[in-house]
Amino acid sequence: MKQFDFLILGSGIAGLTFALKVAPRGRVAIVTKKNRAESNTNYAQGGIAAVTSKEDSFELHVADTLTAGAGLCREAVVRTIVEEGPARIAELIELGMKFSERNEPNGNGGKQLDLGREGGHSKRRILHAKDVTGREIERALLDAVSRAPNIQVFENHLAIDLITSQKLGYVGENHCLGAYVFDKQTGAVETFAAPVTLLATGGCGKVYLYTTNPDIATGDGVAMAYRAGVPVANMEFIQFHPTCLYHPAAKSFLISEAVRGEGGVLMTLDGVEFMDGYHPLKSLAPRDIVARAIDSEMKKSGADHVLLDITHKSARFIIERFPNIYQTCLRFGLDITKAPIPVVPAAHYQCGGVVTDVDGETEITGLYGVGEVACTGLHGANRLASNSLLEALVCAERAARRATGKSWPPLDLEIPAWQSGNANNADELVVVAHNWDEIRRCMWDYVGIVRTNKRLQRAQSRLANLQAEIHEHYWNFIVTADLLELRNIATVAEVIVHCALARPESRGLHYNLDYPNLNSEWAQRDSVVRKSG
Ligand code: FAD
Ligand code: SIN
Repeated sequence: MKQFDFLILGSGIAGLTFALKVAPRGRVAIVTKKNRAESNTNYAQGGIAAVTSKEDSFELHVADTLTAGAGLCREAVVRTIVEEGPARIAELIELGMKFSERNEPNGNGGKQLDLGREGGHSKRRILHAKDVTGREIERALLDAVSRAPNIQVFENHLAIDLITSQKLGYVGENHCLGAYVFDKQTGAVETFAAPVTLLATGGCGKVYLYTTNPDIATGDGVAMAYRAGVPVANMEFIQFHPTCLYHPAAKSFLISEAVRGEGGVLMTLDGVEFMDGYHPLKSLAPRDIVARAIDSEMKKSGADHVLLDITHKSARFIIERFPNIYQTCLRFGLDITKAPIPVVPAAHYQCGGVVTDVDGETEITGLYGVGEVACTGLHGANRLASNSLLEALVCAERAARRATGKSWPPLDLEIPAWQSGNANNADELVVVAHNWDEIRRCMWDYVGIVRTNKRLQRAQSRLANLQAEIHEHYWNFIVTADLLELRNIATVAEVIVHCALARPESRGLHYNLDYPNLNSEWAQRDSVVRKSG
C-alpha cells in the first residue's frame, strides 16, 4: 500500500494546480493514466476567459455566463469564479505561463496581453497563447511540479475505484480513504491511501463516436464517484463544439471558436452564410445554437459537413494567430488562407458532473472534485466558451485552501487488497472492442444534438444490455485498461441518458423534440442521479 497526504487523480490544469497549492503541506501523489501532459487541457486552443481589460467588467462576464447557461447557473458560484479569475491568472503568469501579447505597453514596463473573442462573449476577454493555450499551460504547470518538493507523479497508472469507509462496511461518517489504481505497465492493482483525494479526471467526450477530446476522456471520475454513491448532476448537458475538422484522416482536431472570433464565417457547401437566420450574433452565437444550426443545415441539404471561411483575412494574420490550426490543416492538404475549412460538430465538454460546491467538496468527507469532472453550478445548461480552464484554476485553489485548512486525523481503518477475476481469454478482447464501438455509436445516434423520447428510450435499453455483458467480463477476467474504461463509458452513457429522460423540456444544450420549449418548473432544477444501494 502506498500512503500519501494528498492523492490526486489526473494531471490536467485542475490536478496540477491543486498539487502545487497543497505540496507545501504534505506528500502528494499525482496518478495519471497516460503520460503526464496528456489531458484535455493539453489540447485547449481558444484560451482562458477572465476580466483583465478596462473596457470589460465582472458584471459583463457574469451576465454573459448566465445568458449562455440558460437559467441554470448558480449566480453566487459564477460571481466567485469570475471575480477570483484575474488573481489566479496573475499566479499562472508568475509560474511561467506565457500568454500572447499585443505590441502595446501596459503602463508597467510590459506589454498588454492580447485578448481573443469567442461565442457568447460581449467583450474581448480570452487570454491565449496563440492557438495552443493548453499546451503552454501544461508546460508551465509541469515545469513547476518538477521543481516542487513532495510531489510524485505516477504515469500510466489508471485509477479504478475510490475506496470509502462505507463500502468497506464501517458505519458513521463516510470517508474517502484513497483509490485502487491499475499500473498499466505491470498489470498490478495497487492501493493508494490518503485522507484527501482529488478527482481531477476531466470529461467524457469518448462516450460519443465523434469528439474533439483525446482518448483519456472516458468519464472515469464521474463513473468512480457514481459507483461510490456520490450524486452526479446535469449530465444531459453535453456540449457539442460546432467546428471539428471534417477530414477522413483527422482524428478529433478542433478548429477553435477563436477563428470565428476573428471573423471566420460559417457557410453551406454552396457558399451561403446561414447563421443570420438563427441568431443576431450569427457565427458567434452561443455554442448550443451554432451546433444545432449546423446540424439542421446538414440535415436539410444532406451534406456531411459545412464550411468555415476565414480567407478574407490576410495569410500573414492567419498564420501568426493560428499557427497550429494552419499547420495541421496544411498536413491534411488544406490551406486555410486560401480555401474554407470543412467542419462538423462533435462532442466537446460535459457541463454536468460530480456534485461539488465551489470549493470542490463532495458529499464524501475527504473527497474533492475540480475541473471538468465537477458540477459546481458555473455552467448551467451550456458552458460559455473558455470558462472551463478558468473554473479549474479558481476551484483548484479554493479546494486546496479548504483541504489544507482542516486537520485529518488518521482513521486507522484496514483497507483490503484489490480482488478481481483471473480468467484470461484473448477472444474476449474482440467483444470489448465491439462494446466500445456500440456504446459510442448508440450515444451519437440517439443521444446527440437533437433528441426525442423514443431515441432516448432506445439508447436506455441498448445500454442496459451492454451493461450486463460488461459486468460479466469485469468480474470474470483479468482487468485491462480497455475493459476498465469500457465499464466507465457504459456507466457515464447510462447516467447521461437517465438525466436526459428526467428533464421534460428543452434548455441550453439539451434539446428534445418532444418537449421543444422551456418548462418553468425545471428553471432552477438540476437533474441529479445517485446510485441506489
Ligand atoms: P483534463 O485536462 O482532461 O485532465 C484529466 C486528467 O485526468 C488527465 O491527466 C487524464 O489522463 C487523467 N485521468 C482521467 N481518468 C483517469 C483515471 N482513471 N486514472 C488516472 N488518471 C486519469 N476550455 C477552455 O476553457 N478554453 C479552451 O480554449 C478550451 N479548448 C479546448 C479544446 C479542446 C480540443 C478540448 C478537448 C477541450 C477544450 N476546452 C477548453 C475544455 C478544457 O480543455 C477542459 O475542460 C479542461 O482542460 C479540463 O481540465 P481538467 O484538469 O479538469 O481535466
Ligand atoms: C475553442 O478554442 O473553440 C475551445 C474553447 C472552449 O471549449 O472553451
